[in-house]
Amino acid sequence: MTNNVELTLPSGKVIIGTEEPILNSVERLGHSLEYNCRDGHCGFCAKTLITGEVSYKGRTPMAFIPNGKILTCCSYPKTDIELE
Ligand code: FES
Repeated sequence: MTNNVELTLPSGKVIIGTEEPILNSVERLGHSLEYNCRDGHCGFCAKTLITGEVSYKGRTPMAFIPNGKILTCCSYPKTDIELE
């Protein structure tokens, strides 16, 4: 079952699925976010999570994740989310 949630970015709102990393969903919809490794190692894709919840699907990313931030390359939305 695929669920969709609303993602609010500074550039606008998009609808994304919960079964794909946020970075992949955003790119597929023609938006861009910063990234490097795409695998949870570098922390380059970290964004501030203003509202909502994400999951790493049981995985612990290698990169340090500052408080209040998420790694968009390997996190999946659990609810509607807003990123700074
Ligand atoms: S792009 Fe490297 S941790 Fe996300």
